[in-house]
Amino acid sequence: MSYVWYKKGEPLLAEIQAFRRRQSCAGIWYIGQMGIVLGWNGKILCVDPVLGPMPDEDGVDRRNYPVPFSPEDLSVDYVFCTHDHGDHMHRETLQKLAAANPELRIFVPKPLKPQLAAMGIPENHIVGVCQNETFCPGNQEKEQILVRGVATAHEEYRYDEEGCSETLGFVFRLGTLRLFHAGDTVVTRELAEELKKEQGLDVLMVPINGRDMERHERGIIGNMDCREACWLGAETGADLTIPLHYDMIGGNEENPLVFADCMERLYPERKYHIMRLGECFFLLI
Ligand SMILES: [Fe+2]
Repeated sequence: MSYVWYKKGEPLLAEIQAFRRRQSCAGIWYIGQMGIVLGWNGKILCVDPVLGPMPDEDGVDRRNYPVPFSPEDLSVDYVFCTHDHGDHMHRETLQKLAAANPELRIFVPKPLKPQLAAMGIPENHIVGVCQNETFCPGNQEKEQILVRGVATAHEEYRYDEEGCSETLGFVFRLGTLRLFHAGDTVVTRELAEELKKEQGLDVLMVPINGRDMERHERGIIGNMDCREACWLGAETGADLTIPLHYDMIGGNEENPLVFADCMERLYPERKYHIMRLGECFFLLI
């Protein structure tokens, strides 16, 4: 597996910011684990960014590769965190992003709002989201961005007393494009049916690191595996499936070529793409 950045630092930051001037296309950058940056219609969005160390109990960093840039160097409008695990809702990253971006809005599952505030994130930055809520993070008329929270199961569905899911995936409707970022989840019939409601996802971004007894015994809650990720792509009819969440954390990796092998053998008619770290994938409308 390659832990080398295709692009990082200033060239990557410049490429991301250049998307603020682009029309009629979206950019997806992979920044490690489940982290992506999206560029669309003058706005920069980010999902599950981890731009700092991931220390274990002994203080040893579990990251397999360095960060591509410091969070304070990223100009970003909207950040989405799928759940409260450190490889998705990363305290240092969010603190620095909020400090560097005074207008930043951070969207999290509604039950996690107090946790985010306890991290020292000013409350004016925090927006709670409940599943099946469709909202525009900014100015819908100008930006053409709609987002829908989808309840996920990591590895089980968990809801607060008001019925709001503690873990979410996010559907991003960018103009006519439909993208889904799953966060951490296993595959369930409910998830597949929720995604079918989008009537044609252009991109499905899913974790592939799987789950097993050995990792459960180490306290690692699991995700769908490669074969399940391929099935979800086929079942939902997503045009393109992108496997994520297989590389950053030592002891919880998967080889994305296993995903590729499943696709080639089981769904040879389907498209997929394995992202290089720091690579931009362009989507034209
Ligand atoms: Fe995770």
